[in-house]
Amino acid sequence: MRTTLSVIKADVGSIGGHIVPSKAQMEAVEKYVRENGLDKGMILDFNISHTGDDIAILMSHTKGTGNEEIHKLAWDAFLAGTEVAKGQGLYGAGQDLLKDSFSGNVKGMGPAVAEFEFDERPNEPFLFFAADKTDPGAYNLPLFLAFADPMHNAGLMLSPSMKDGFKFVIMDVAYTEGDRVIELNAPEDMYDIAALLRDNQRFVVESIYSRSTGDIAAVVSTTRLHNIAGKYTGKDDPVMLVRVQGAFPATGEVLSPFNIGHYVAGFMRGSHTGPLMPVKRNSTISFFDGPPVVSCSAYCVHDGKLTEPADAFDHPYWDYIRNQISRKATEIRQQGFSGCAMLPYGELEYGGIVEKMKKLDGKFTVR
Ligand code: F6R
Ligand code: MG
Ligand code: MG
Repeated sequence: MRTTLSVIKADVGSIGGHIVPSKAQMEAVEKYVRENGLDKGMILDFNISHTGDDIAILMSHTKGTGNEEIHKLAWDAFLAGTEVAKGQGLYGAGQDLLKDSFSGNVKGMGPAVAEFEFDERPNEPFLFFAADKTDPGAYNLPLFLAFADPMHNAGLMLSPSMKDGFKFVIMDVAYTEGDRVIELNAPEDMYDIAALLRDNQRFVVESIYSRSTGDIAAVVSTTRLHNIAGKYTGKDDPVMLVRVQGAFPATGEVLSPFNIGHYVAGFMRGSHTGPLMPVKRNSTISFFDGPPVVSCSAYCVHDGKLTEPADAFDHPYWDYIRNQISRKATEIRQQGFSGCAMLPYGELEYGGIVEKMKKLDGKFTVR
């Protein structure tokens, strides 16, 4: 069976600041998708979750990627969540719905989208990642390590089905006229892939394909809200889908690089550097509006029906990692605004500093 998995996520308001959506809001989104999507046969299955202040709608269906009906279903569900948010006086109600009316596809309208279509294997395990308080480049390093580095992916050495490596499709997210992409193959182009992926704010992995089978392996939401709105509207908070096992990395190989807690852009006011902490599903946000977090729900899909999610970061191992990453977060916060603790000028999410610098510029004298 040819199945499409679509995950569409948005921040449409939250309790107590940019922390967590309300139960009533989650229920409103769930009810909307159930009544207008599942019950009407538009989608085959769905699951609603949140990571920090972002609500994600994961859907399985047969309509392919970029489908208008599916995107509208998610958009309208987020509008239903926004109504509840307004009614409860939640903070940032409707924050990520940047356009007044839906126009065919939620891409470029605020919500983040990751979706792929494939012929279901007899057993089809996949992972759904959702990150909050960071941008899509946060997945660059973990994807590089999971799909191209035998230090994390033992299957690159041991599994005949991965011996040909993977194709990386990388997008230049600074280019706004269209999708500017490059295709590079691991292992032979590894140094070129690394040269691009080091710049998380400019070059972002959009998708990855198996070179043995040609099948799609991973897809990342590449939206940068910054580029759509031209002003601060929240960090992009990316979602990602990854197929696992068989010709793809094992689940544990994809999870492995997340034990680094690598420093990413985001954190307070989307303007700082912080370590990416793997957290449980439906986690909240706390210290310094962070730290940047990522959740991972593992599923199987069969004939378009989803299993219940297995929470991949809900395990004693990750408690140990979370403690180590808390230390990394504390350490970088000790230097406040100084140097690499805060993002470079062009990446600061608040325009206020531009005004400030203009004013100060006029006060400089040249001796
Ligand atoms: C980061 C984030 C928060 C807000 C901060 C100020 O992505 O959402 O850190 O930037 O809480 O929020 P506003 O500007 O809404 O008062
Ligand atoms: Mg928010
Ligand atoms: Mg968010």
